[in-house]
Amino acid sequence: RTVTLALHPAFRIAPVRRRTFGAFVEHLGRCVYGGIHEPGHPAADEDGFRADVLELTRELGVSSVRYPGGNFVSGYRWEDGVGPVEQRPVRHDLAWHSTEPNTVGLDEFLTWAERAGVEPMYAVNLGTRGVAEALEVLEYANAPAGTTLSDARAANGHPEPYGIRMWCLGNEMDGPWQTGHKTAEEYARTATETARAMRQEDPDLELIVCGSSGSQMPTFGAWESTVLTEAYELVDMVSAHAYYAEKDGDSASFLASADDMDHFIDAVVATADHVRAKLKADKRIMVSFDEWNVWYQHRAESRPPSGEDWPVAPVLLQDTYNAMDAVVVGSLLISLLRHSDRVASASLAQLVNVIAPIMTEPGGKAWRQTTFHPFALTSRHARGDVLEVRLDAPSFANERFGESTSADAVATWDEQNGDLTVFVVNRDPDRDLDLAVDLGDFGQLALTEALTLHHADPYTANTAEEPDAVAPQVNESVALQDGRLSGTLPAISWSIVRLH
Ligand code: AHR
Repeated sequence: RTVTLALHPAFRIAPVRRRTFGAFVEHLGRCVYGGIHEPGHPAADEDGFRADVLELTRELGVSSVRYPGGNFVSGYRWEDGVGPVEQRPVRHDLAWHSTEPNTVGLDEFLTWAERAGVEPMYAVNLGTRGVAEALEVLEYANAPAGTTLSDARAANGHPEPYGIRMWCLGNEMDGPWQTGHKTAEEYARTATETARAMRQEDPDLELIVCGSSGSQMPTFGAWESTVLTEAYELVDMVSAHAYYAEKDGDSASFLASADDMDHFIDAVVATADHVRAKLKADKRIMVSFDEWNVWYQHRAESRPPSGEDWPVAPVLLQDTYNAMDAVVVGSLLISLLRHSDRVASASLAQLVNVIAPIMTEPGGKAWRQTTFHPFALTSRHARGDVLEVRLDAPSFANERFGESTSADAVATWDEQNGDLTVFVVNRDPDRDLDLAVDLGDFGQLALTEALTLHHADPYTANTAEEPDAVAPQVNESVALQDGRLSGTLPAISWSIVRLH
């Protein structure tokens, strides 16, 4: 059983976009409180930010971070989170049935983002609020000194405008679970008018309109068409969200999750281009895949508190990831990279503790989940141009998609530095694959490194006690001879092969 990859330096898709490697910080569970921010922790800096989490965020190679939600944002009053901390209101967060202390808000997050070296992406509330409040937060964040709100920012210790470029026009407004949920027509109106007003303040913003919360949504496709028909000229990107999990032991369908992501992106692009044709528009709308990950939504850890219980920063969505989850995350990254011509931005949801690559113990250590590794290695080594890879591979049967190819791959080629990197996954649940790649068209190359993430028991996870149970290992079988790359890819594995 062999997978043959056909690769050529001319098979360029698009340049690698740094924004593909975004993440997400929501006021949810222990992501903010006890995640990025834990005053009193031995590793906390003078502002209460955990230096160990900052360090891991940098190591993860995160480019941009979406904030403050998520479902949370649809009931959020941004002004609650600025000004003297002791005067900030405490409120119920309806989305996660929690109490929001507001001790972290816009200024704290942007200070953290600067320390982490990430670009912020800010979501405005279009659930319980609208145009006026979106303009206010834009003025507070980005206006130069001399207006009431920019002067308030200066009085709060931040005289310089933050210059946030990427703004999400609400969150998952197609979802009936969303506070202030809207029909496509209602949302199209609100988003269009919000975008128009925000552009009057600053025409150069990059605006992201809400697309679908998943390809299974009953309004998928129709939603994008309605919203883009109205908002087309005023927005730059349409969002896409997708979460995957192994359900009822169906690991084969789970391993093939990237087939859904491929279909999702292709369908949104086709819909956007159809609207473009209808409107005789010039520009193309790009995709912002600003929530994606493995998420075991059906498990108890994802159930918010209820009744009289409104805790602050409860343990919520703290999924523990295993080796198979990491392979799926690696294969979703392959799908995102392959679509770099149309996916202009993406955010792994989320960053810390909440369906996250980074976990922390209160007052204790921070560690890397299994999913940390494919993300960090892809972000670090995907450089130059994305190359399409033609695959000749066997397939495996699964319930969700029927048949899926056992392997999937993408490559990046940094012509200037002569670096070729191949990302390849064996997502067959049972069978190893032999890798065969002819690299003759790239000139003289040598193998720099071949790493494979795999575990004999794919359900093995990284935990506080065993943080390195699953980590990429050198794949000794990979060799390069006479321009031909060969090696073995074990069943359920993700690999990176670097050549120079
Ligand atoms: O990331 C967790 C939640 O998933 C977000 O709050 C919401 O936007 C999505 O449904």
